[in-house]
Amino acid sequence: MKTPTLKIENLKLGFKGFSGTNAVLHGISLHIAKGEKVALVGESGSGKSVTARIVLGLLQEQKNAKITGGLEFESRNLNAMTARQRKALRGTDMSMIFQDPTSSLNPVYTIEVQFHEVLKRARPDLKRAEARALALQALADVAINEPERVLDSYAFQLSGGMNQRVMIAMALANNPALLLADEPGTALDVTVQAQTLKLMGELVEKHHTSVLFISHNLGVVREFADRVYVIYKGNIVEQGKTETLFDNPRHPYTRALLSAVPRITGGGIPDIDDDPAHFSAPLIAHEGFSEKELLA
Ligand SMILES: Nc1ncnc2c1ncn2[C@@H]1O[C@H](COP(=O)(O)OP(=O)(O)OP(=O)(O)O)[C@@H](O)[C@H]1O
Ligand SMILES: [Mg+2]
Repeated sequence: MKTPTLKIENLKLGFKGFSGTNAVLHGISLHIAKGEKVALVGESGSGKSVTARIVLGLLQEQKNAKITGGLEFESRNLNAMTARQRKALRGTDMSMIFQDPTSSLNPVYTIEVQFHEVLKRARPDLKRAEARALALQALADVAINEPERVLDSYAFQLSGGMNQRVMIAMALANNPALLLADEPGTALDVTVQAQTLKLMGELVEKHHTSVLFISHNLGVVREFADRVYVIYKGNIVEQGKTETLFDNPRHPYTRALLSAVPRITGGGIPDIDDDPAHFSAPLIAHEGFSEKELLA
């Protein structure tokens, strides 16, 4: 096998607190080949975001986080790096897209200024005019029709979908080897989310970018990912090619995840050892309302 872009081996994470250590990851292993789009799916609190934060070297800076296990990025041992070396990788060799595009952008600077900052991370000597030309091209690549106007705008002047495209353009501007996308676009409406994810998929394919795609929306995962890891309470319980895993889930939790229909009760994905009756919970729980109020 060729060298993977990312290789995680037996990664464990615990947070030290007053009453001992709270174990969050129990030894997860995963790899992403060059140009591969890999999804990490699991319920809320299963350990998806902390995994991304460790890859980015962010949790290593948190005093009470205890991290062990192998972490290799393009054959480089991330554990052996200093905080400064890890910081140098962020925004250049690896970049991140977050859930809410509008709040990820800085409200007091124009898109152009923020773009320039991003580009300067890889090319510190870049002149303003050169940066503008590169940014215009990057915005055109994410199918923005009026890149000039967008560059001169502030995030609040643009729609959520437009800001998401800007975020994608910025994240890919320095041609990173790895893109970490943590619930991208969940703050957007579903049609816009689907459009931007499609666009992101095309761009990463064009540039052979490896992607770690985090989501609990199995619909978008099926569309986007080549391979899927299922995480359950800090353990990888199943992995496989997207088609195979969706068509023939083996682990009971994966089956539960696939069979669970989103419910407005906010109950999330039921425990695998839960009563099966749980699966057919009513769609809407009118808690706190009397029947009279509902009928009024
Ligand atoms: N900085 C932190 N300090 C202490 N505990 C943390 C920290 N970050 C996360 N945790 C805990 O680690 C566990 C995993 O959190 P994580 O954010 O990775 O979940 P997730 O799978 O991304 O969930 P969601 O789908 O809700 O985003 C949770 O129990 C969370 O409370
Ligand atoms: Mg998360």
